[in-house]
Amino acid sequence: MVSNTRGQFSSKFGFIMAAAGSAVGLGNVWGFPTKTASNGGGAFLVIYLVMVFLLAFPMLVAELTLGRYGQANPVSTLRSVWTKNKAVAGVMGLIAMVTSSFILSFYAIVAGWLVAYAFIPVFDVAGFHAVSEWLVNFSSERNVVLAVIFSLMNILVVQKGISNGIERWSTRLMPLLFILFAVMIIYIFTQPGAIEGLKMYLVPDFSQIHGGLMVDAMGQAFFSLSLGCSTMMVYGSYLQKDVNIPKTAAQVASIDTGVAFAAGLLILPAMFVAKNHGVDIFTDDGVLKSSGDLVFKVLPAMFDSMGGVGAVLSFGFFVLMVIAALTSSISLLEVPVSCAQDELKMNRTPATWVIGGVIMLISIVICLNFGTLFGLVADVTTVYMQPLLGAVWAVVVGWIWHRNKLLQELKHGYPDIESGLFWKIWPWYVRFICPVAIVMVFLYPMF
Ligand code: TRP
Repeated sequence: MVSNTRGQFSSKFGFIMAAAGSAVGLGNVWGFPTKTASNGGGAFLVIYLVMVFLLAFPMLVAELTLGRYGQANPVSTLRSVWTKNKAVAGVMGLIAMVTSSFILSFYAIVAGWLVAYAFIPVFDVAGFHAVSEWLVNFSSERNVVLAVIFSLMNILVVQKGISNGIERWSTRLMPLLFILFAVMIIYIFTQPGAIEGLKMYLVPDFSQIHGGLMVDAMGQAFFSLSLGCSTMMVYGSYLQKDVNIPKTAAQVASIDTGVAFAAGLLILPAMFVAKNHGVDIFTDDGVLKSSGDLVFKVLPAMFDSMGGVGAVLSFGFFVLMVIAALTSSISLLEVPVSCAQDELKMNRTPATWVIGGVIMLISIVICLNFGTLFGLVADVTTVYMQPLLGAVWAVVVGWIWHRNKLLQELKHGYPDIESGLFWKIWPWYVRFICPVAIVMVFLYPMF
């Protein structure tokens, strides 16, 4: 892609796969099951679904619409809508850009672990036990090496641009991931203990609901749908005009939520199956042990129990997970890269290497100070910045943007929108409910 012609997704299916590719990632397979398991199971699931439906989906429509209207990077898109206060608009765009860069910096570390777990069975089979041992055990050196490998893969895809890089990869590989998931879920339910996990997952214990859980569930929903940091605004800017945005957003949100739900259906039963196999997941009084590496304990235990097939499936699963993480991280890197292309008139290739390189350095710094920085960066960006930026976009769409322009933009792909239910509810909803609800969830724990 050269800087004066904007890239575009070449088909509707390609866009849905790319946007779903951005949404489906570590958030679904690592974040969601971990948070569900450590928040009592079913109760978290219920609140999460409510958050996706009531807050994240309307905001997804808002971000995509803003992006397609602006046909530019988030900084200039926001300026073109918020014409009375371009300086504030630009600053908001920059904050979103920095947030997405920091999300990528910790995301690449976890994605690096997936790279390790993909290759552990390979090194084992090849007889390099010392290497696989090194890959399993947590160390700063391992984390740095893996994060660098993953970051370089990310840079290589992003520098290829929209339809050749991002779209091609997403379209081919996302469907494969869904199939593998289905196979693994069927397998886990043949194992003793699985039903106990299913109960924990699907039978909500509402006494578990508290303010912190609501904040967590909201953050998780925003994270999972890639909202707040203007990723979806950027993807919207590459979207063709004849696409029906509310419908597409609903499809993307459904795929994303479906995959998160399926991941829970796999991981929670697999926890109890692993427990039956003697993997210590719970403390003596039944509390979940360190949750961050839950997925990395439970899944290998499951693959081990499968014998020879397990090694093959394990390789396939983690490779596809790396790809799912890659389709998410390319969308994160695309935010600052698109800004640099338009605002600084940089070409895509140097922009990708310079920005990707800086973010990689941040990842390394986090790896070397893991205990202090990892949780901090993850929490500040995902629990606070994403929903708060989301509230800002809601104000922009609901109060600042001219209602008619918003309508015209949505009409391109949805000509009879005015006669439908969506248009009766959504503009009003984004205007009043979204910003207020987001702020209220934050205030709730104080009472
Ligand atoms: N949604 C992705 C996941 O669940 C991560 C992601 C991609 C993201 N782009 C984002 C999160 C933008 C926040 C903002 O893994």
